Amino acid sequence: MQTLTSFTRPEQPTGHTCAERARLSNMNKPDDTSRQYSPVDQLLIGIDTGIRTLFGQPKITERSNPAQNQTGAELSETERQLAGRLMRINHAGEVAAQGLYQGQALTARLPQIRQQMERAALEENDHLDWCEKRAKELGTHVSALNPVWYAGSAAIGALAGLAGDKWSLGFVAETEKQVVKHLEKHLGQLPEHDNKSRAILEQMKKDEGRHATVALEAGGTELPRPVKKLMGLTSKIMTRTAFWV
Ligand SMILES: [Fe+2]
Ligand SMILES: [Fe+2]
Repeated sequence: MQTLTSFTRPEQPTGHTCAERARLSNMNKPDDTSRQYSPVDQLLIGIDTGIRTLFGQPKITERSNPAQNQTGAELSETERQLAGRLMRINHAGEVAAQGLYQGQALTARLPQIRQQMERAALEENDHLDWCEKRAKELGTHVSALNPVWYAGSAAIGALAGLAGDKWSLGFVAETEKQVVKHLEKHLGQLPEHDNKSRAILEQMKKDEGRHATVALEAGGTELPRPVKKLMGLTSKIMTRTAFWV
């Protein structure tokens, strides 16, 4: 099993594409993820991130929007509405993911775990940005309940972090696995020729799968069945509400 120390960032990355090299080089810079902060600093960073997530432009990675190279297909009114609602749900899910990661970063005990989660949270911001842009292109609004999703998820994330890192990582892994299943369902529901939304969800699916693997390899433990069930139920409430509001 891969250990936590294997997350040490490589000094001389080799065999990577230009984009990967740029990402790794950014990761080696002394940014927010490599400094030690006090609990108060962490809290203030969390609040700042929350405000940016909900009302501003959150910090994203160097990656480009997967929809950018896709040709926009002509959608009927019904198709446009459906795709817009699905992208609104996905946007709300990313708001929740952001809350979850920030909450966990606040209470995670090992610095490596915190750093790893912050990188994943940054990638969730890419998803957030892509989903918001696509929802707007489709002529719809983002969920009015986003502050509720964020606050609720941040509280759950902080609790998971307090339970200890192996549970916290197990929680991340389970969340990501459930998101992958949810994205597969949405890929089946999207209008067949909505290439732009499809490209975004495909990339998100890859990322979420990777986040789950990383969390497990870092020592995440399998959650008890009732907890998994409860998580599924909570996300169902959110996805069904965000379809309409
Ligand atoms: Fe995501
Ligand atoms: Fe993720």
